[in-house]
Amino acid sequence: MAIERTFSIIKPDAVAKNVIGEIVSRFEKNGLRVVASKMLQLTQDQAEGFYAEHKERGFFKDLVSFMTSGPVVVQVLEGENAVLKNRELMGATNPKEAAPGTIRADFAVSIDENAVHGSDAPESAAREIAYFFSANELCDRIR
Ligand code: TYD
Ligand code: MG
Repeated sequence: MAIERTFSIIKPDAVAKNVIGEIVSRFEKNGLRVVASKMLQLTQDQAEGFYAEHKERGFFKDLVSFMTSGPVVVQVLEGENAVLKNRELMGATNPKEAAPGTIRADFAVSIDENAVHGSDAPESAAREIAYFFSANELCDRIR
């Protein structure tokens, strides 16, 4: 299995709950390594651009408003099968349907404030990483 990268956001609800470390710890304990990380306050334009694929959906306005409601932590995670591994650790979009022990089951309360984002495919991971990070912010081959 090749080493892969995925993009993660610890969303404003999880940052407000002070569980950044607990979430990152789950990544680390499950074979994912942080290779880029920063905390930032998304602008409306940044949030709208990031979620552009959802702009026709009824929840889009609320999603953008939530994602700009407080700081987030954007990260690049690296490891074997990182995209799928992160999605498994996150759990289902709706925390009420998320498997026990997943991040969303443990830290989220509703589908609209669900603690974390994770890329859904290698192609979206590449696009999302480039959306938030320049090449010189990514740490290569940490040993
Ligand atoms: P989506 O890409 O479908 O989920 P995921 O984050 O698991 O990849 O949707 C993006 C975000 O939009 C989701 O994390 C929360 C929000 N959302 C809602 O608020 N209501 C909804 O019904 C859906 C499908 C998503
Ligand atoms: Mg998605």
